[in-house]
Amino acid sequence: MSSTNQESLGRTPPQDQPIKQLIQWGDHLSVGHPGIDAQHKEIYEFGAEIYESWRDGVRVGELRIAADRLWELLRAHFLYEERLLAGVGYADLKQHVAEHRSMLKELQGMREHFETLSDDDDSPGGSVLSPNWSVMQFILGFSLGHVMTSDMNYRQSLMAGGKATRPTAGGA
Ligand SMILES: [Fe+2]
Ligand SMILES: [Fe+2]
Repeated sequence: MSSTNQESLGRTPPQDQPIKQLIQWGDHLSVGHPGIDAQHKEIYEFGAEIYESWRDGVRVGELRIAADRLWELLRAHFLYEERLLAGVGYADLKQHVAEHRSMLKELQGMREHFETLSDDDDSPGGSVLSPNWSVMQFILGFSLGHVMTSDMNYRQSLMAGGKATRPTAGGA
């Protein structure tokens, strides 16, 4: 009925709020598959760390390490998700894969930019001019944008495919 979350999102500068107030992880973000939910949560938690480092300020050397780890997390997750969706014959797989590729390309662009900066360069806390701002926006876009819309769209297909919440019984 009330939309206090939206109000707080719209009115309060993000740097004044912990990320857990901006995005709350919970069942509303579940796609109904424990493996994928766990990966999404791990990416979200790492995003929260990046957000905090953006608020506090960080050296580019550390930011570069964080961006590399985010790259590995996303690449592994996208591959896992795409295989799963292919297995259930998800109709919008092509579009979904294209979104993943686009996100990786965007992140790769940031990593290449960081390579042009010195390790000791500052990424000042809470500034939209800091290099960390782009990573922080990217990870918020992932949590808010891709998971809450595109990933949620495959929920029904995944459940109908019989691989949603049923634990795999091991074996071959
Ligand atoms: Fe996805
Ligand atoms: Fe995903």
